[in-house]
Amino acid sequence: MNACRSSRKDLAGPGGVRRTNATGKGDRLLRYEVVDVEAIHVLVQTFYGCIRNHPRLGEIFERRLAGRWEEHLPKMESFWQSVLLKNGAYKGKPVPAHLKQKELMSADYGEWLSVFRPVVRELFVSDLADEIIAIAERIAQSLWLATFGQAGSVPPPELSSKASEWSGSCW
Ligand code: HEM
Repeated sequence: MNACRSSRKDLAGPGGVRRTNATGKGDRLLRYEVVDVEAIHVLVQTFYGCIRNHPRLGEIFERRLAGRWEEHLPKMESFWQSVLLKNGAYKGKPVPAHLKQKELMSADYGEWLSVFRPVVRELFVSDLADEIIAIAERIAQSLWLATFGQAGSVPPPELSSKASEWSGSCW
């Protein structure tokens, strides 16, 4: 039912060498210690499982991607592979893809991050999670600037976080 919760189950198994218990706070999830193609696959699937439940963004994604999810998810895996593994898998152009979404509002980028951050923290050990989140924040800031920025604009503060911030459980 809840894609965020069902995705947790996938991570709770015995796991491979690339995952570890991260916190010692009674949290039994195993977390990725390295970023690889498999970890990115799980990241993308989990994130979209969560964002599809978001009351506003979920509706935007469902409307825009109706009948096209099967092309979108592999594309997003390529995107994150290019960003995190630098393997050149993604050939698209994110800015025009967002500029054409006239319904986007300034606060949507912060909402997107508020879903992305806890997903990353659930999946990756904390140092890696900090790095991935910082990268996503920089991309969100540049998409925000491309979508809403004018000369001298500064992205809203919710598009950055201190590395130590813990955003809680998956949205
Ligand atoms: C404001 C919140 C966001 C919304 C509502 C949103 C929504 C969407 C939608 C609906 C598409 C599919 C466009 C299409 O194929 O017609 C898309 C594509 C994409 N989004 Fe977002 N997005 C958001 C933020 C972000 C952020 C922060 C990132 C990166 C960190 C991102 C990365 C991408 C990429 C790489 C694509 C594929 C572009 C392409 O090559 O076609 N998006 N987004």
